[in-house]
Amino acid sequence: MKAWQLTAFGRENLVLNDIPQPTPGPGEALVRISSVSLNYRDKLLYDGNYNPHLEFPMTQVADAVGEIVTLGPDTSRFKVGDRVVTNYCTRWIDGHPTSKESLYTLGNTTPGALAEYLVLTEQALVAAPAYLSDDEAAALPCAALTAWYSLVEKGGLTPDQTVLFQGTGGVSLFGLQIASALGATTIVTSSSDEKLERAKTLGATHTINYKNNPDWEQEALRLTNKQGVDQILEVVGGSNLARSIKALRPEGQISIIGIIDGFDATLPLFSLIQKHGILRGISVGPRRALEDMLRRFDELKIHPVIDSVYAFNDAPKALERLEEGAFGKIVIRVRD
Ligand SMILES: NC(=O)c1ccc[n+]([C@@H]2O[C@H](COP(=O)([O-])OP(=O)(O)OC[C@H]3O[C@@H](n4cnc5c(N)ncnc54)[C@H](OP(=O)(O)O)[C@@H]3O)[C@@H](O)[C@H]2O)c1
Repeated sequence: MKAWQLTAFGRENLVLNDIPQPTPGPGEALVRISSVSLNYRDKLLYDGNYNPHLEFPMTQVADAVGEIVTLGPDTSRFKVGDRVVTNYCTRWIDGHPTSKESLYTLGNTTPGALAEYLVLTEQALVAAPAYLSDDEAAALPCAALTAWYSLVEKGGLTPDQTVLFQGTGGVSLFGLQIASALGATTIVTSSSDEKLERAKTLGATHTINYKNNPDWEQEALRLTNKQGVDQILEVVGGSNLARSIKALRPEGQISIIGIIDGFDATLPLFSLIQKHGILRGISVGPRRALEDMLRRFDELKIHPVIDSVYAFNDAPKALERLEEGAFGKIVIRVRD
């Protein structure tokens, strides 16, 4: 079968290889992949910033939708022909994570889904929503669950809250769609006025161009009558986190998600203390939460925002688009 594999760190080392089709063992399913979607994490991986001990060659990409074609012995969750999506943390089923759960992910510790077929434990698969196309379903797992788990499960999102989203990438736009659907007030930041106009059509109540307003936290305070925002999905990290603390209302929560601007931060601790602010690290979520989220998405009929769709052979072009900064999700159609 054909598989896009990383043969060394560096985007240029993603190579289309012919490798043997895997066979499912006990508890595993063979999935014929239809579509996959990219995450910023895929860039971290090929840049060597996610797992410096990555073994090569490694088939890439974690988020996928496909159809089960063979089941190994001792399987019971699915039948042949079922349409499934992957769960990002393949060993986190439910409950509190131990320090290990976020280590086991596709394209990292086990072969990823940017291939014609994938063998995976059936425990890491979830029924795909029938109302979504393959491209849309592939866009869901990592980014949507991260936003949902942060806002709803850990943030207790209510309609009277104001939530701030940084940029218009995958996690932030899913957060915007969730918060808008649940009736919250939303603020979206972006480097682009054109993207901010598009965010308004997805329900953004207020927008801030963070290039024109580098002190975006002051604008967030102004928009909330100096009260601050209840929740922030911190996808930027680095020095941006100090600004997020300043934009927070008392008892508000910042979900620490991303590190686009850096892995380390110096924080205004006195401000955090005075506000009784909550900083919560987030590492996607368990399968149970993905299943809960998909049920709610079905009720709310949330459709992922797809930036662009690439053919399987054009996977390197999709990675280039990831580096440009997409509006929503980038999809690669594996099977036409
Ligand atoms: N902890 C977890 O569980 C988890 C899960 C998923 C993702 N992540 C992390 O979260 C981050 C986002 O991931 P993603 O897949 O959503 O990324 P993505 O789709 O590639 O989106 C990146 C977007 O970030 C925005 N951005 C860049 N610099 C910014 C800045 N200084 N201020 C505000 N926005 C900025 C840009 O939006 P504009 O073009 O609109 O400016 C850009 O399009 C990454 O660091 C990723 O590793 C973590």
